[in-house]
Amino acid sequence: MKRTNNNGELNINNIGQSVVLKGWVSKKRDLGGLVFIDLRDIHGITQLAFNPDSPLYAKTLEIKNEYVLEVTGKVIERASKNKNIPTGDIEVEVSEMNILNDAVTTPLIIADETDALEEVRLKYRYLDLRRPVMQNTFLVRHQATTAVREFLNNEAFIEFETPILTKSTPEGARDYLVPSRINGGEFYALPQSPQIFKQLLMVSGFERYYQIAKCFRDEDLRSDRQPEFTQIDIETSFMGQDEILDISERMIKHVMKKVKNVDLTDAFPIITYKEAMDKYGVDKPDTRFDMHLTNITELASTTSFGVFTSNIDNGGIVKSITVKNGANLYSRKGIDKLTDFVKKFRARGLAFLKLNDGVLGGGIIKFLNEEQQAKIIEQAKMENGDLLLIVSDKESIVNQSLGNLRNHIAKEQKLYSNEDYDFIWVVDWPMFEYKEEHSRYFSLHHPFTMVKDEDVELLETDPSKAIAYCYDLVVQGQELGGGSIRIHKEAVQNQVFDILGISKEEQQAKFGFLLDALKYGTPPHGGIAFGLDRLIMLLVHTENIRDVVAFPKTNSAQCLLTSAPSRVASEQLNELSIKTTK
Ligand code: AMO
Repeated sequence: MKRTNNNGELNINNIGQSVVLKGWVSKKRDLGGLVFIDLRDIHGITQLAFNPDSPLYAKTLEIKNEYVLEVTGKVIERASKNKNIPTGDIEVEVSEMNILNDAVTTPLIIADETDALEEVRLKYRYLDLRRPVMQNTFLVRHQATTAVREFLNNEAFIEFETPILTKSTPEGARDYLVPSRINGGEFYALPQSPQIFKQLLMVSGFERYYQIAKCFRDEDLRSDRQPEFTQIDIETSFMGQDEILDISERMIKHVMKKVKNVDLTDAFPIITYKEAMDKYGVDKPDTRFDMHLTNITELASTTSFGVFTSNIDNGGIVKSITVKNGANLYSRKGIDKLTDFVKKFRARGLAFLKLNDGVLGGGIIKFLNEEQQAKIIEQAKMENGDLLLIVSDKESIVNQSLGNLRNHIAKEQKLYSNEDYDFIWVVDWPMFEYKEEHSRYFSLHHPFTMVKDEDVELLETDPSKAIAYCYDLVVQGQELGGGSIRIHKEAVQNQVFDILGISKEEQQAKFGFLLDALKYGTPPHGGIAFGLDRLIMLLVHTENIRDVVAFPKTNSAQCLLTSAPSRVASEQLNELSIKTTK
């Protein structure tokens, strides 16, 4: 029988109509012969009613949750209405019913609220995905990719596919490797991003590329990282940084409007990497709340507190955050917990001062004279009831620990709303970061990123100071996307590879094809990639990336549904010329 309606659309205007509905049994209630069944599909729920004298009554007795039904009946007005659902004014009086399939008891309840363990949800993902809240997530995901395609197609972008079986790409994580049977002993790498291919498409003259691209990175997993994830990947020719930011911003605004009906009319603020680090301590600042970091190094150097002064003598700094009303919110024990928190970021301690009734107090007060006390109150903009938290150490440790503490306290004190979309561009990233433990430079973005025109010479003299044409889009303290203007000249690319300590042989072996391509009239180009999964996390307000991936992996990179990864037969390994040691 053909379905006439879905389960989310019948209302008071349909009364009297004969309908055919299909779906799953969400709930059955038997009120002494009067039976009600909630029939569910992706669109919603319709209440089915069976009178005590209905010939179908006996059949309803065998029906259990998650049976699949097909019913014919008449839409009637409900005696007791349910204002919480769109179909709550009506029910369907059933005259015919086919059981299309039965179902055993499900290991998790198919409802928005669930106390099922995540392992159970992932093992029975097909059931987890039946829950309306999950169905909504994937509807949103579809709406978002549709809006992205709509926008980019309209701006004359061309959608591409690039290889999955390819060569190592340089995004800084470990590669997933795939052995080649035909070329025994050789491996493909899965792309960490389509970076090099999209640049090659610019060499080919396509000018505006995009791809909803799968990327694979074997890295430590977190709540916002999956080993395989999806990017909205973009590359353009002949556009400067400003134009790329503009087009990206308009795309994000289009998605927010289409999916959330949110109008983001203001231009996204732009701050430099340095400003972000100075003011927020992190390169992905959450700007929904203030609590900025204050640099009090100068003042601290005049105090008699040995920890401050010796750190400063050794090139360290002292910074603070002012927690509004924190003197009342955090007891000694509370501050101990905050101290434990900053220790995770290698800070050795957390000094504090409280301002109550105009009097500053706290363990380190004896090291500050009256003048210094007045200055600190002024510099840190303290008011009565405020708490000042101070870290002194190497600059990177101070920033990291206070930046993360700032986010931690804001979360604890609920200083922000998930509906506040504080998109912000972080620009002017350094080209390189020097890692002591490796005694060499690493790219902060990736090795194809172009140095700012005014800093070209610094590549020769002091690469650590060179700033790149590089930008990240940040929202709610998360990195949503990142990109750069690329190097389009072979000589500069060689120079950057040299700074990164990549030998000529390695340059040829890994990226020779790109270096070759740069010889043939490569246009100036640049692009960006957004984490699609992270965008959906933002749109559906979840902190768990697994909630927005249909079939995700656990933090130990396993798929609990299929039990991948798994062992393979030794014949298969032989064919691939592989021996395992485990
Ligand atoms: P980048 O490495 O910054 O840039 O990645 C771009 C965006 O992809 C998302 N992302 C991830 N999402 C989920 N799980 C992961 N493991 C993961 N890793 C990254 C983030 C990030 O901002 N080729 C460059 C882009 C370019 O230069 O055009 C690149 O991949 O949201």
